[in-house]
Amino acid sequence: MFSRALKPVASVAAQNGAKNFSTTSQKNFKVAVAGAAGGIGQPLALLLKQNPLVTRLALYDLAPVTPGVAVDLSHMDTPAKVTGHKGPEELAEAIKGADLVVIPAGVPRKPGMTRDDLFNTNASIVRDLAKCVAQNSPKAIMAIITNPVNSMVPIASEVLKKAGCYDPNRILGVTTLDVVRAAAFIGEINGVDPRSVSIPVIGGHSGVTIIPVLSQSQPAVKLTSQDQIKALTGRIQEAGTEVVKAKAGGGSATLSMAFAGARLAGAVLRGLKGESNVVECAYIKSDITESPYFANPVVLGKNGVEKNLGFGTLNAYEKELLKAAIPELLKNIKVGEEFVKNSK
Ligand code: NAD
Ligand code: LMR
Repeated sequence: MFSRALKPVASVAAQNGAKNFSTTSQKNFKVAVAGAAGGIGQPLALLLKQNPLVTRLALYDLAPVTPGVAVDLSHMDTPAKVTGHKGPEELAEAIKGADLVVIPAGVPRKPGMTRDDLFNTNASIVRDLAKCVAQNSPKAIMAIITNPVNSMVPIASEVLKKAGCYDPNRILGVTTLDVVRAAAFIGEINGVDPRSVSIPVIGGHSGVTIIPVLSQSQPAVKLTSQDQIKALTGRIQEAGTEVVKAKAGGGSATLSMAFAGARLAGAVLRGLKGESNVVECAYIKSDITESPYFANPVVLGKNGVEKNLGFGTLNAYEKELLKAAIPELLKNIKVGEEFVKNSK
């Protein structure tokens, strides 16, 4: 179901160096990373520098090391031209002309914190970055990694609405890490290559809002009792906390997030390029449930989200999970929307 599992003819041909029949599709994209010097930003930039669709990679951060990160990456013998941009006065230059802006800027959790505890610091960071996107590259796709994702996507959306350039198909909350984790854990349980596992994770990106739809896993999860299913569901929901605890005050997931972020970014670019059947889960504006933003598989195309695929049939347990997720999502979304309403 997901983009990795699908090998459309055009992409296989391109990989084999065969003639590509689409002569009009764009293959040169500018990607900007905001928060590029951080724990996620640096390995994400490393992975994006290796993507042949990326011809310009703009790294933006407040940290003084940012231009150095760009110089470091620029010595890699891959086509993307890397530029470094440090501090607010250099932000517009980083964003100008970007096709995709990936945002991992902001503080991560420490043990004992929830993602919502990050709101007060991260809300204004995402708001200001979204303002800059509205002013300098209003057609760019925004992929928001910064937590709490459930609230950050509404914040960016409200900012773009205020600026008069809102397109719901161009703002994605990055939930790919939940999908990656679910596949990793199922691969381990089933004793198969996790890359062969396809599993939708729907809802949002925090605690009870993370809903792995284990009944739709391909191949089927080799678990027999409901207790085992509950334990696996709980592990996927709390996997971020597992990393936060293991890092013991040193931050949250960075490397697996960079991997997941590069996968989502790659899928967005393949969609922009015109490849068909590019499917990933993402947290987007939605009318599939009572929650106005919701994550589930979507088709990515030339204008961002091309089609919302919904989530199909849930079993009784998954319906209960969905019921528990909705009030939390509504609360998270309201907090984000109110923040922008009350901002200058
Ligand atoms: P980090 O502290 O290592 O890096 C964050 C970077 O953002 C720093 O380099 C900092 O200088 C930069 N920054 C801060 N304010 C900025 C601004 N206004 N403009 C540009 N850059 C700014 O943190 P990290 O581990 O990379 O995590 C970043 C965010 O990603 C956190 O909010 C974390 O919770 C979130 N996260 C989300 C997921 C997910 O699945 N969506 C997974 C892991 C982490
Ligand atoms: C994750 O899922 O790893 C991220 O959201 C970071 C966190 O705080 O758990």
